[in-house]
Amino acid sequence: MKTAACGGYSGRSVFGPLLRGEKVTLRPARENDAERWVIDVADQAIGATGIHAINWLDANGTTGIVIGEKASWGKGYATEAMRLRTRYAFRELNLHKLMTEVDAGNEASRKALERNGYRTVGIRREQTFREGKWRDRWLGEVLRADWEKTQA
Ligand SMILES: CC(C)(COP(=O)(O)OP(=O)(O)OC[C@H]1O[C@@H](n2cnc3c(N)ncnc32)[C@H](O)[C@@H]1OP(=O)(O)O)[C@@H](O)C(=O)NCCC(=O)NCCS
Repeated sequence: MKTAACGGYSGRSVFGPLLRGEKVTLRPARENDAERWVIDVADQAIGATGIHAINWLDANGTTGIVIGEKASWGKGYATEAMRLRTRYAFRELNLHKLMTEVDAGNEASRKALERNGYRTVGIRREQTFREGKWRDRWLGEVLRADWEKTQA
């Protein structure tokens, strides 16, 4: 493992493990400064999630998720995948904070994030232009210390 710090990036390579939940299994994909998993349900890939742009010096990273098949939405898969991802980030990678941003109108994503401890940082106004409209982005983050209090 390399340790030289440069611009906040240690150059460390990480190889994520298989994470098993009750509904979903997270299957790792290998990369530098990122942990990415394919989300499997009954051995079928239904989406992907990950922590990217990991800054090892400041111990934070940015999270994202997509459940590709609409038929798989609303079954709690994203909520559980985020639970596994968050636990792994704090307990195994020893990160201090996770950050993310989603379209302000994306209620499902925001609810799943809030269930996993993410809290509002702010709104980035008119950040993206999609389907002829400027759209706001919701910024959220979860600190390990706050998350740990919910795990007792
Ligand atoms: C957003 C997304 C990740 C949610 O995944 P999911 O597996 O359907 O989410 P869950 O089943 O865990 O549901 C999460 C919460 O949202 C609610 N929800 C689900 N669909 C909803 C909808 N259309 N509107 C409002 N709330 C909704 C659920 O009831 C649940 O809330 P609860 O815990 O209070 O019951 C998924 O729909 C998706 O991949 N969408 C396209 C890509 C995207 O938007 N990615 C996120 C941006 S980073």
